[in-house]
Amino acid sequence: MLQVYISLAVLAICIYFKYTLSYWKRKQVEAPPPLPIVGNMGEMILQKKHYGEIYNEIYQSYPTAKYVGFYKMGSPAVLVRDLDVVRDVLVANFAHFHDNDFDINTELDPLLASNPFTARGDDWKRIRNQVSPIFTTAKVRASYSLMKEVGQSLLEYLENSPDINTAELEIKNVMTKFTTDVVASSVFGVNAHAFVDPNSEFVKMSKEFFQPNFFGVVKGTIAFFAPKLATIFRISLIPESLDGKLRRLIRQLMTARENGEQAARKDFIQAFIELKRKDQENKITEELIVGQALTFISDGTETSASVMSYALYELARSPEIQKRVQEEIARVTAEHDGEMNDEGIMQLELLDRCIHETLRLHSVAFNMTRICTKSFQLPPQFSTQQHGVTVDAGTSIVIPISAIHMDSAHYDKPHIFDPDRFLDEMKQQRNRYAFLGFGEGPRICLGMRFGLFQVKVAIVTLLSNYSIQLAAKQTVPPEISVQSFLRAPKNGIWLTLTKRQKS
Ligand code: HEM
Repeated sequence: MLQVYISLAVLAICIYFKYTLSYWKRKQVEAPPPLPIVGNMGEMILQKKHYGEIYNEIYQSYPTAKYVGFYKMGSPAVLVRDLDVVRDVLVANFAHFHDNDFDINTELDPLLASNPFTARGDDWKRIRNQVSPIFTTAKVRASYSLMKEVGQSLLEYLENSPDINTAELEIKNVMTKFTTDVVASSVFGVNAHAFVDPNSEFVKMSKEFFQPNFFGVVKGTIAFFAPKLATIFRISLIPESLDGKLRRLIRQLMTARENGEQAARKDFIQAFIELKRKDQENKITEELIVGQALTFISDGTETSASVMSYALYELARSPEIQKRVQEEIARVTAEHDGEMNDEGIMQLELLDRCIHETLRLHSVAFNMTRICTKSFQLPPQFSTQQHGVTVDAGTSIVIPISAIHMDSAHYDKPHIFDPDRFLDEMKQQRNRYAFLGFGEGPRICLGMRFGLFQVKVAIVTLLSNYSIQLAAKQTVPPEISVQSFLRAPKNGIWLTLTKRQKS
């Protein structure tokens, strides 16, 4: 009898998988063949490939499709190829796709609930409106003097640190110290001492978020790739200790400022204190402020350090462009009486193009993922077909940023680093959705101005004082770490720094 039950159970499981994994076939949408449980993400689970590489392969395997069906683990998902469909999802029909496919349990992760990236629906709208005034160009530019101080710490570190070998230097590690110090100073108003003390309280707090243990990685994978399971198993992502430390730090800082025990600074905590003063309806809560502080750590440090490192990698490979960037920095510095300032940073037009071209070639986010919240009619999958396809609510929609950026239909010789692609006249000739380095539409990166600004300050500091080359051990292209959600070089970015003669 037991054998009959087992056979029936096996049969039921087989029928279940056959049915769920035939979703796209039933909709007559072409999709790569899936495996039970892992769908098309098997090589990611085995850590053989980054999910970004899997998305690239799906994208390239269907060159004439407007989109491709696939299975993100057991769930059907759509990978978008056509830029009109990208526009539909990100902008034109935002009402159907306003949420990221990421499920946060607000009881277990209250701080993530106020991160605009993870917030959903009306909560997202409210939070985005409340925190947007913190991210204006004026607020970002006001933090220049604090960033400049961090630049000074960077130079002292390169000059004086006994463990520095400028002939062969892993720059991602150095840039992460820079962004950690910038966030500590310009957001929290504290010195993280990242360049001198790898065990300082702030550095440890930041590492706690970015270097989770084995279970942290498993939890992150579930939250990103099987969000429904994260809800069922009540998985929290922020360790309780980090939550507690952040709350204590912010409470101390705000009390000290509000009581006048600490002088006002041009940092983001001060901006929140001012917002709170004007807030008649008690909307600027502690939860919201601490949540945004965490947003700066989670979304603001690794992203920018990665862009800095890949931009330096590209400039090291293109000495001619590097020289022109150095000349531009020298010219703009001279125009400001020999002292770079926030206005000067905004005037570095070639550097700005180099950073955008870096983001095209090495997009920090491999993709964006939205969830369809209201069923939506997509155009036919192929232009030869007559009928569109209805995407059901609950389907995950992947916009593969990296694959779009590397498509020769949008960029001639896409593997070549060419900052001229971002000249105004070139941008005008291109579909605006061919560049998604910061996302697009109502959910475009909230910290874009802050991120770009700190990337520029770091590169200006470095290239004003050093010229760079690739170190002999650096591979071309840099291998991607399969363990990192964002793009990260598996073995770092190795540069040789040569001190420049001051004229
Ligand atoms: C140069 C560095 C950065 C890059 C390349 C970058 C890239 C991106 C991208 C591609 C998105 C869209 C994600 C999506 O739609 O799924 C995004 C969203 C976001 N970014 Fe950034 N980012 C950077 C720096 C920052 C910084 C410094 C912050 C500061 C706190 C930040 C905060 C956010 C937030 C809150 C969102 C979610 C916005 C929303 O959904 O409303 N980012 N970023």
